[in-house]
This record gives sequence, structure tokens and C-alpha cells, in this order.
Amino acid sequence: MSADRQSLTSERFTEYYAQPTAPWDIGRPQQPFVMAVDRIGQRVLDIGCGTGDLAIWLAERGRAVTGIDFIEPPLAAARRKAAERGVAVNFLQMDALAVGEIPERFDAVTDCGLFHTFDDAGRAAYVRGLARLLESGSRVLLLCMSTAEPGTHGPRRVSEPEVREAFSVGWEIESLEPNRFEVVPGIAGAEFSPGGAHAWFAVIRRTGDSATSCQAA
Ligand SMILES: C[S@@+](CC[C@H](N)C(=O)[O-])C[C@H]1O[C@@H](n2cnc3c(N)ncnc32)[C@H](O)[C@@H]1O
Repeated sequence: MSADRQSLTSERFTEYYAQPTAPWDIGRPQQPFVMAVDRIGQRVLDIGCGTGDLAIWLAERGRAVTGIDFIEPPLAAARRKAAERGVAVNFLQMDALAVGEIPERFDAVTDCGLFHTFDDAGRAAYVRGLARLLESGSRVLLLCMSTAEPGTHGPRRVSEPEVREAFSVGWEIESLEPNRFEVVPGIAGAEFSPGGAHAWFAVIRRTGDSATSCQAA
């Protein structure tokens, strides 16, 4: 199991976004989501949406997208970008741990770089919230940094068994493949493997109903 660490705080992310560029903010969606677009249903919740590149890209492809983030600076940038590109995305400030309370229904959740920010307790609470949010058949598409990435700088590394364990009850892992997490080059302290940080890309289908998730909680 990868070492537990405290969940990254909103203050820490505010510091990241105060830099000229946050290391993950590459200005376009990460490639695994582009390749998997056919598995992303019509109503999408992009959790930890940052400055909105994935949410906007999906909206440009006809999806009805809500993007949430727990701090305002990236959301302001995301709203600006969406306006410039003439697409409608519902960007909201909200904690990912509260998604279980959202009354709307979604066909897919996209999580690009959020799962790996949680400590063990936060991760479990996050997945419980997803289970409450999503009905049977909806999918979670998730890109997180993998234990194959050397070093300890940047986000917590996640092992394959950890992904499987987190989604073991009430979910089916449709695919879980090694992949890469592209980062902005040349940022001190955010140097990762050539070709991108080693990552897991998972497509996970909800099989249980909310009652199952309450039992699992
Ligand atoms: C690594 S960044 C990825 C941003 C975006 N998905 C991307 O790929 O560019 C993680 C994002 O999740 C947000 N975040 C972290 N913890 C969160 C939480 N508990 N609730 C909502 N957003 C959170 C951060 O503010 C940040 O924008």
C-alpha cells in the first residue's frame, strides 16, 4: 500500500494556482480521457475540474457538463475559458466529499488528478459519496498517479490494489491500465518521468444502488 498522507488542502491548491502555471495545468484534456470519450455518457460531473479543460472539451462534444472544484481561482479561469470558447459548462465551487448530496443524476464522473490527493479516510469518504451520487450503469473515469512513478514529490502514488480495493463493493472495474499523466515541463519540484508521470487510468462502472453504498459506508 502507498504511504498514507494527509489529503491536500484547499490552501495548498490555492498556492499551486497562484504560480504562473500549476504543474498539471497543460491547457488541454489528458490523453486517456480523449481516447475514452466514447465511454463518457451524456451527463458528466467533472470533479476537481481545475481550470476546466476537460469539462470544456467534453461540452464541446455535446455533453452536458458540471465541473466542481473546492476553490474559486481555477473556477474563475474555467468560466473565462468557457465563455471565450462559447460553450456552456456549469462550474460550481463545492467539496468533492459532498458529491453524494447532489440531487442531479449523472452518466459519468471524470476525475483527473483528484483521487490521488486524498488520504485513506478521504479516499473512502469520496468513494462513498460517488456511490450515493451514481446509479447503476454510470461510470467513473479516473486518472491518478501510480506507484510506478519514482520519488515522493507531487501527489501520493496509488497502487493497483488500492484502486481495486477502493471500488471493490458496488462497482465493476471495466478497465485499469497503466498510463501517463502529462505535466507542464520545466517547473522546479514537479519533474516527473519523461513522457509523463506514471499513472493508472481506470474506467469503473457502478453496479450497486444507493442502498448498497449505505451498507458499504
Ligand atoms: C491535480 S488538480 C487537477 C485539475 C484538473 N482536473 C486537471 O486535470 O487539470 C486537482 C484539482 O482538484 C481540486 N480539489 C482537490 N481537492 C478537492 C476537493 N476536496 N473538492 C473539490 N476539489 C478538490 C484542486 O483544487 C485541483 O483543481
